[in-house]
Amino acid sequence: MNNTENYEENALHSPLKRENIITLTNEEKELIRETLGAIHYDPEGGKEYIMEIRRAAYMCFPERLITALEEQKAGLHPHSYLYFENLPYEDVEGSPEESKGETGLDYKCTPLSENITVALGALSGEPYSIIFEGKEIVNNLVPSSHMKQTYTGNGYDVELSFHIENAAQKDGNLDKDTSPGALVLVGVRHDESCPKTRIADGRDALALLSDEDKETLRKADFRIKVPMRWRAAGAREMTDRVPILTGTDENPDIRVAFYPDMVLSVNERAQEAFEHLKQAVDAVSCWVDIAPGTGVMVNNRMTLHSRDRFEAHFDAQGKAERWIQRVFVKNSLQALAQFEQSGERVFDPSHPKISYAERIAQESRHESYGIG
Ligand SMILES: [Fe+2]
Repeated sequence: MNNTENYEENALHSPLKRENIITLTNEEKELIRETLGAIHYDPEGGKEYIMEIRRAAYMCFPERLITALEEQKAGLHPHSYLYFENLPYEDVEGSPEESKGETGLDYKCTPLSENITVALGALSGEPYSIIFEGKEIVNNLVPSSHMKQTYTGNGYDVELSFHIENAAQKDGNLDKDTSPGALVLVGVRHDESCPKTRIADGRDALALLSDEDKETLRKADFRIKVPMRWRAAGAREMTDRVPILTGTDENPDIRVAFYPDMVLSVNERAQEAFEHLKQAVDAVSCWVDIAPGTGVMVNNRMTLHSRDRFEAHFDAQGKAERWIQRVFVKNSLQALAQFEQSGERVFDPSHPKISYAERIAQESRHESYGIG
């Protein structure tokens, strides 16, 4: 089951599942460059912009790419991940530091990578951003020396262990699932230390577990911590007791994060099953180095991802050599409509639209369901 057995030095990825790789021809690549490179980027993700990107992407993406993205959206037989090769990319000079109010377009001539990122999201669902992750619909993941120890896309001096993005939010603030259904990551600039993004298909991991372990993971015997930035914005510190695993073994929904102290198992058996899942996830994982020309879509319902600790390099101007762009995707943005928007598709959970009284009422309803 271990996909890392045929490890190839200097390759951009360890052996991935063939059916999950989409390689563009040079002709397809140039058509996408020409079409998407010419569209004006709207960092707020306005209606007209998303519609224009969709129209253009349906015109310039090859049919097999459209089919794969549509399948992800339908969710009946979803891929665990899709890996894109030979995407068009542009020359960049530097990388943006959001703390200085910089944007990606300060360092390159066209919004090609932003538009590709949004297009991959818009054909597989509804792309969006959470304001803690960046002020634009497309987030810039760039190493930052003052955040190097953080478990975020800007950290690099700590390993960001396997996790489902916003795992706790599957339980939801106010009973709504505000976690992404998928993440799209596109390479913009490449660090010579080749930091690896690891991916693990939850279905392969579950196949290694005993029925007893799976049964335990299906019990509401776990509490999952809400990410720090959501907590600071007023969200609860952790979920009530929830299962890690729901859905079927073939089409599961997993909520877990293996970086320190994120999951509290309420008894020994639960802790044992949690440890077994962790081992199984490691055993089935593969990796990609998200460099310019490549991208990956991770199915956040069933696929865990991680990023190795790495040595970040900075150019003579002090700009990070690693730069990945990301967008979150959901089938519907309705659950996020409870938050104020900073722009059409950038949501701010620190500003819920409903009143404090309503919020308390909803939370106590939640507790009376016996979950707490
Ligand atoms: Fe993540």
